[in-house]
Amino acid sequence: MPNHFFSVEDCPNPIGWINEALKLKNNPYGYKGLGINKTLGLIFFNASLRTRLSTIKAAQNLGMETITFDVKKDGWQLETTDGRVMDGNHVEHIREAAAVMGGYCDILGIRAFPTFLNKKEDYLEKYLLGFREYAGVPIVNLESATLHPLQSFADLMTIEQHKKKKRPKVVMTWAPHVKALPQAVPNSFSQWMQYYDADFHIVHPKGMELDIQFTKNAKLSYDQDQAFKEADFIYVKNWSSYHNYGEIQKNRKDWMITLEKLQSTAQAKLMHCLPVRRNVVIADNAIDSHHSIIQDQAYNRVFATQLVLKKILIS
Ligand code: CP
Repeated sequence: MPNHFFSVEDCPNPIGWINEALKLKNNPYGYKGLGINKTLGLIFFNASLRTRLSTIKAAQNLGMETITFDVKKDGWQLETTDGRVMDGNHVEHIREAAAVMGGYCDILGIRAFPTFLNKKEDYLEKYLLGFREYAGVPIVNLESATLHPLQSFADLMTIEQHKKKKRPKVVMTWAPHVKALPQAVPNSFSQWMQYYDADFHIVHPKGMELDIQFTKNAKLSYDQDQAFKEADFIYVKNWSSYHNYGEIQKNRKDWMITLEKLQSTAQAKLMHCLPVRRNVVIADNAIDSHHSIIQDQAYNRVFATQLVLKKILIS
């Protein structure tokens, strides 16, 4: 049982957890007493719809109270580097701030996206590690610079629910976007897929390769039409370049997902973590089609998170 939940690596039995979370979905209030007199603090350095609401709902299902704090809107700007002379915009050090928040809460969830200013700094996960070091309570990753494990956990629950064969073909495809997005969702999905029995492919334009520490055994290719053949699941996501850090590829409308592309698959289910820009990433005719299981993914976020909180509460 982990004290912290940063990635699938904190999960001793990912397949067991997927099945347990699906069972929890059928009995969401069965552990309502577990979180009585416990408080979950939700610390957001960035915007959120699904993560915020699904995590509050998950906590409520377990009887927990929640406190939500938007650091950029309501808080002081935090310094994460030790030894700095703090005579600039950073008013408070993470050492004090994390310790104070940990004093008020029994578990803390942290969302902190990458800055895209410096790959090495982003991939060091200073916010997550700072909270782990100084808060003194279990930390749950609500999407960090490099990973979004609660999303991937819900994604695998969704695949498990919808799969029609033991070993489905799952294709994660890059799609266009107008601005630089993190690699957290594709990194995390690739990492979780290492534990799942599937024929897993990642397809993207040249230059959009992810960090191989996450993609490992996935089949990598550059031809979307070819990759989509016989696919059972198409997971759509944009990400900016890992190697030319934060760069985007413009004028790649040919990579947008359309109904016509889905019709070339084995009646594949269409997945996206949301939010999605319609007719940039996915065309209306695809997202509104019978292929989409996107709402199931969003709904499963509640039960993936509820299971993680339950595991922490009983530890
Ligand atoms: N998928 C996801 O994490 O959504 P939010 O950014 O709205 O929380």
